[in-house]
Amino acid sequence: MAGDPPQAGQHRGRGVTAPGEHLFFPLQEPQTIQRLFGSIARRYDLANHLLSGGCDFLWRRRAARIVRGWAPGRVLDLATGSGDVALTLRRYLPEEVLIVGADFCVPMLREGLKKGAGPVAAADGLALPFGDGAFDALTVAFGLRNMASYLGALKEMHRVLRPGGHVLILDFSVPPPPLRWVYRPYLHHVLPSIAGWLTGERSAYEYLGESIEAFPSGAAMSALLEEAGFAEPTAEPLTGGIVSLYTARA
Ligand SMILES: C[S@@+](CC[C@H](N)C(=O)[O-])C[C@H]1O[C@@H](n2cnc3c(N)ncnc32)[C@H](O)[C@@H]1O
Repeated sequence: MAGDPPQAGQHRGRGVTAPGEHLFFPLQEPQTIQRLFGSIARRYDLANHLLSGGCDFLWRRRAARIVRGWAPGRVLDLATGSGDVALTLRRYLPEEVLIVGADFCVPMLREGLKKGAGPVAAADGLALPFGDGAFDALTVAFGLRNMASYLGALKEMHRVLRPGGHVLILDFSVPPPPLRWVYRPYLHHVLPSIAGWLTGERSAYEYLGESIEAFPSGAAMSALLEEAGFAEPTAEPLTGGIVSLYTARA
């Protein structure tokens, strides 16, 4: 159906690739994404909490509980942004657990540091400055969707995880009907207007809707995880399916 999230093999909205082909065809260039998050960094948290109606706290807590169940010693929070996932993990995991945040947008990392997140690394998810098997668990919340190659980023996540380590992906998805019928007008019209007023960057939130429509969800994401080398993929819709939480083993 028109507008449905793409299936595995179609990695970006405007760029159609046949299964097995992995063209770089970003919805937005990486530099544009970097600038976009740089421009909204100071207002990002407020916009997030308001536009999700506070649900973002619940989603992060659900993620942190799952990670705690894995009892990791070293965790990478990729696309950590202003650090909310890393800080939630800090509250849920024992003190001795190392939690590193990585993001390629320095203004976002600075916002995180102000809130007490850290250590952080300025790093691109497609070429992480960490050795093979460096982490026991990796989280990426609302970040993979913005990366220029989903498969390339997943393979890089797989590389920095130890064999048997866990990945957790949290991101938006398009909910099934009937919620879809109200969600789409909200996503494409209401949200960009409110967020534009809050952040002064309406176009950043128009991009958000586009990127959500293009992002694989459910079985398509599980297939992509397997293609990147992960095993035992799981998919859990949250809040009626406006967000999905995926896990898999390296
Ligand atoms: C929507 S924010 C999410 C921040 C945080 N994880 C949260 O849950 O609030 C997306 C973040 O992904 C980062 N990002 C996008 N592409 C990236 C890449 N290729 N490498 C590293 N970070 C990236 C952006 O800079 C931005 O900080």
